[in-house]
Amino acid sequence: MNEHTYTLEIRSLRAGYGRYDVVHDVSLHAFAGESVGLLGPNGAGKTTVLRSIMGLVRHRRGQIWIAGSDVSRLPAHRIAKGLAAMVPEGRRLFPNLSVEDNLRVGGLRHRGDPVRFHSLLGEVFDLFPAVELHRKRPATTLSGGEQQMVAIGRMMMNDPALMLLDEPSLGLAPLAVQSMSKALLSLKERGRSILLVEQRVDLALQVCDRIYVLSDGALVDEKLTSEVDDEGRSLIDAYLG
Ligand SMILES: Nc1ncnc2c1ncn2[C@@H]1O[C@H](COP(=O)(O)OP(=O)(O)OP(=O)(O)O)[C@@H](O)[C@H]1O
Ligand SMILES: [Mg+2]
Repeated sequence: MNEHTYTLEIRSLRAGYGRYDVVHDVSLHAFAGESVGLLGPNGAGKTTVLRSIMGLVRHRRGQIWIAGSDVSRLPAHRIAKGLAAMVPEGRRLFPNLSVEDNLRVGGLRHRGDPVRFHSLLGEVFDLFPAVELHRKRPATTLSGGEQQMVAIGRMMMNDPALMLLDEPSLGLAPLAVQSMSKALLSLKERGRSILLVEQRVDLALQVCDRIYVLSDGALVDEKLTSEVDDEGRSLIDAYLG
């Protein structure tokens, strides 16, 4: 098997908190340039999978590779050096920093390379003109939809092999969800590999090539988006409750 065709490969992941496992046996992958959705109800373990990939939760079993590197035992700060970057649940912008400084933090690993830094910043502004317009404002004075764009921009500034997004649509108005889904499609068109955690099935089906359904810490379904018919859709809806 050639690991390098995968941007992400997870084999038999088991992870949890304290004495409890919340992810029991998860194996999944994303090919280079593929956009993959991880769907599941509240408490299924979606965030725990993402935090395991980022090295923020130590897993008890299994292995994780990103872009061919075994990151199973790597500390989070090493994984954040271009292997993976995440838009966390609830966005978590730095509230006391301006929009621009939030982006700067995302791009810290390029501080020795101003050309690269400015080209990434240009890419963010190109994708999100509102972010450029408001770049001097304190990040948390922006609307929810604009803040989500800043969070996505901060992740883009890292220029990671793998982009992780944890329920980016949560709490957004329908129009903001639409522009976010356009932005994700545009990242995909630029060849980015994406793992998108969502509870909104419509959004995941719009953006992803393939989806997994997680329930109680185990995968219960995997499908190409193009193969999800009405029956498949009702099955997914049933899992999501
Ligand atoms: N830091 C923690 N300490 C202890 N238990 C935790 C911790 N974080 C999550 N859990 C538990 O692990 C389980 C899975 O949580 P996780 O956040 O991964 O689910 P999720 O699928 O992301 O849910 P949601 O859709 O609500 O965000 C839940 O039962 C949760 O209570
Ligand atoms: Mg979660």
